[in-house]
Amino acid sequence: MIADLAKALGVSIAELLTGDFRENTNQSANMKKMLFYVCPICGNIVTSVGAGTFSCCGITLLQQEAEQCDANHDIKVEVIDHEYFVTVQHAMSKDHYISFVAYITSGSFEMVKLYPEQDIAVRFYKQGHGILLAYCNKHGLFQVRV
Ligand SMILES: [Fe+2]
Repeated sequence: MIADLAKALGVSIAELLTGDFRENTNQSANMKKMLFYVCPICGNIVTSVGAGTFSCCGITLLQQEAEQCDANHDIKVEVIDHEYFVTVQHAMSKDHYISFVAYITSGSFEMVKLYPEQDIAVRFYKQGHGILLAYCNKHGLFQVRV
């Protein structure tokens, strides 16, 4: 019944239940405006080239706002040959770790998933100017322009 009402109104069930209607302004789908949503319960990662309403573990996911790097989440980038070599000095314990590193240009997106106890040392083939991001499971998303 709820599904029928949502369909009749042209909205998703999540939008209907939360009253939070999303209309995309990123209609050209510029990848640099890619959005990240991370489930606070299971760590699931959802990426989108436009705003949307996504749910996981029974809750609506909040859009992650990328912040500039701080002293504890400082993304270091070296250019080696045709690659960006990305490192972050950060804890990689079970409770507090960098969950992923991503590289976005206007036309491409690449993500490397990281796990506790792993080194944060990631290489991306250089494809022009873009954004490098690192997601900390406790402190959120950080970015640096390259
Ligand atoms: Fe952190």
